[in-house]
Amino acid sequence: MTAFVRNLVDTYSFRPGSSGCPVTGHGPVRTVHGTVSFGPVTRDVPSPRHDPVPAEPSPSDPPANDPPSVWLPDAVEFLEQFYREAGSAVPYEQRLAQVRDEIVATGTYRHSRAELTFGARVAWRNSARCIGRLYWQSLRIRDRRHLGSPAEVAAECAWHLRDATRDGQIRSTLTVFAPDRPGRPGPRIHNEQLIRYAGYPDPEPGGRDPVLGDPRNVAFTNLARAMGWQADGGPSRFDVLPLIVTGAGHRATTGLFDLPKDAVLEVELSHPEYPWFADLRLRWHAVPAISNMPLVIGGITYPAAPFNGWYLNTEIGARNLADAGRYNLIPEIAELLGLDTSSPRTMWRDRALVELVHAVQHSFDQAGVRMADHHTESDRFLEHVARERAAGRGCPTEWSWIVPPMSGGLTSVFHRRYDRPDPDLRPAFLPPK
Ligand code: ARG
Repeated sequence: MTAFVRNLVDTYSFRPGSSGCPVTGHGPVRTVHGTVSFGPVTRDVPSPRHDPVPAEPSPSDPPANDPPSVWLPDAVEFLEQFYREAGSAVPYEQRLAQVRDEIVATGTYRHSRAELTFGARVAWRNSARCIGRLYWQSLRIRDRRHLGSPAEVAAECAWHLRDATRDGQIRSTLTVFAPDRPGRPGPRIHNEQLIRYAGYPDPEPGGRDPVLGDPRNVAFTNLARAMGWQADGGPSRFDVLPLIVTGAGHRATTGLFDLPKDAVLEVELSHPEYPWFADLRLRWHAVPAISNMPLVIGGITYPAAPFNGWYLNTEIGARNLADAGRYNLIPEIAELLGLDTSSPRTMWRDRALVELVHAVQHSFDQAGVRMADHHTESDRFLEHVARERAAGRGCPTEWSWIVPPMSGGLTSVFHRRYDRPDPDLRPAFLPPK
């Protein structure tokens, strides 16, 4: 190992717990006047975030969480970038004057479709933790800026999933809802992803695991249950969580909505060589769709802007199903493989991990659901870095998130350095609030 690589390893020996890369409570789907409504647990409850209103506020005081006016230099910086990289039939000076006047009059401005599309794509390009950025220009934008009520947002999230999933031919997609405006915060999706599995901290006594389902989602599951949610058919290991959405505005309500079944594609896992693997009855959802990262473009914040890509094999096989703090399947699989688990030196963990990721890749491939593999995606990422360089741009990158969580040194991305991430770079997807 060269000193350079050793340094990298030392610097990055701590790997963050999850990826932020730029993507059914099984209630029956009822069709009302041709539109899909949500299952029986749909309800509105007072928002814990915005209520209660402080006692006797002065009528002239804006609420404490009132979104600020857009800062003109943020808008100008974005417009300059937009005109430099994309261009427009509207002359720059004219657009600039328009935006300035709008900000002076209303405290904010409205992006054109082209600006919104460009801004969202560049926010992806700027995501230092994402290995899939070669495709940044292919992001599809669903413009739903006119929507801000919990029910509308939830229904459109389901349409987002249908639109992006396409029976496995997954497309990178982003739906953008109402932005923050002075006097009116935008809506907010509380789920970290549109599709996540529940975690129940109270499984049968004497069982193997302290949590039934995904331990990562215990707090969210508790919140949903406190709001009256219950999985169809009772708690199980892979219950799709409901959406919890707070509407736009200061006195907004928060609603809980089951995702219709037809919006959620899942893949049952099997192994090409071990028939017993299917008996574990493992599964994972096809589409990763991040839903709690605000999108910021030109000074405007879109707090609800869920986006998805497609999965990389290791995200599921080497993290979600393998991490000791997640589904923790390595010991069980090692046992079923008949490996000697008496010492770490038999490499039983490593061998079980390879077979788990292999099963994930095999199952998605068999099901015709788009999934990347870590070797190919590493090479593509380096192609992206080279293209960005050729375009005269850097490519901010977090090494520890880009290098896959298995066989790191076998992949091309391991063996080099990258441009340092800049937290102030815009447009951007911001860390969840
Ligand atoms: N790592 C996250 C998960 O396993 C998904 C993050 C986004 N991933 C993606 N391929 N776009 O659910």
